[in-house]
Amino acid sequence: MVPNRRPRAIGILGTGSHLPPRVLTNHDLEQMVDTTDEWIRSRTGIVERHIVDDGVACSDLAAEAGRRACEAAGVDPRDIDLIICATFTPDTICPSTACHVQGKLGNSRAFAFDLEAACSGFVYSLSVAWHFLETGRYRHALVIGSEAMSRFIDWEDRNTCVLFADGAGAVVLGEVEEGRGILSEHMGSDGSQTDLIIIPGCGSRKPASPAVLEGREQYLKMLGNEVFKFAVRIVGEAVEKALEPTGLTQDDIDWLIPHQANIRIIEAAGKRLNLPRERVVVNLDRCGNTSAATVPIALDEIVREGKVKEGDILAFVAFGGGLTWGANIIRW
Ligand code: ACO
Repeated sequence: MVPNRRPRAIGILGTGSHLPPRVLTNHDLEQMVDTTDEWIRSRTGIVERHIVDDGVACSDLAAEAGRRACEAAGVDPRDIDLIICATFTPDTICPSTACHVQGKLGNSRAFAFDLEAACSGFVYSLSVAWHFLETGRYRHALVIGSEAMSRFIDWEDRNTCVLFADGAGAVVLGEVEEGRGILSEHMGSDGSQTDLIIIPGCGSRKPASPAVLEGREQYLKMLGNEVFKFAVRIVGEAVEKALEPTGLTQDDIDWLIPHQANIRIIEAAGKRLNLPRERVVVNLDRCGNTSAATVPIALDEIVREGKVKEGDILAFVAFGGGLTWGANIIRW
């Protein structure tokens, strides 16, 4: 019989992130597609973004962010019991990026797997790792959001290439004192909307072929307007639903860390939740949309700046292809 144990309190012990050094500005994009700095800034809030150099893959970014998170947590990467990498831009379709990361970290103890929920991947992964750890069977999890989006973007499509970017963020999870750590989650998906954000080619539906490449179907396609309408509604709603079981209200949120897709979506969420601007974390002007990596990168920035204080309430929220969405509430 399984003993009737109380779940342990699980929280974030350390954070890390890594952005590739190469910066691509809106002015650079003006030379590549029919766009302007003014259009990109006013419609999205993005000014510049980081892009990987040739030869760099998703796991390279992920391993570096993971190493930094382990260092901040004071946990040897070899002692991690579980590695989850949230990504939809993996190094290889098989094996998983998480296994590539495990190899790079010299870890032989963990079980490692990828979680694909597009931009919601990190928020989903945090919940999955939380539930593994609260059983007490595993001590430390490394949860990473990492994307090499630039490899799957059509650099001739101005509708998408101005939005996305590369980068990785990571956290180490472990036991914390009762009443702190991850307090709740709310997650959802809508499989009737798979066409809104999709990489149609090079999967088992349309395997790689000259026709697929000719049609540029190996690249991400997005119906931006439809995603925008969905996002404006879901971001506030997901946070409200995640708050419900905690007994906290939106007034208790010290830091809202939303998915960094569009400043207009972030501002709409802040308004709905009645949060002053300074409590909403924004870095998309410098980082663009790094998909599953946006939330952990933004978290790492404010933690390293010393802004997050013990006892602060944090709300993470993301949405993306699937469609998927999710939110977590955390007491620091
Ligand atoms: N430069 C100049 N003009 C452009 C550009 C560009 N880079 N991109 C599009 N346009 C044009 C369009 O062609 C269109 O022209 P038309 O009216 O002549 O057809 C016009 O600008 C307006 O286009 P809209 O799509 O209506 O512009 P909108 O204000 O909706 O902004 C955007 C587009 C930025 C994509 C917005 O819809 C958005 O942010 N959507 C949400 C995307 C998102 O959040 N994705 C996250 C999930 S992604 C994931 O999971 C991987």
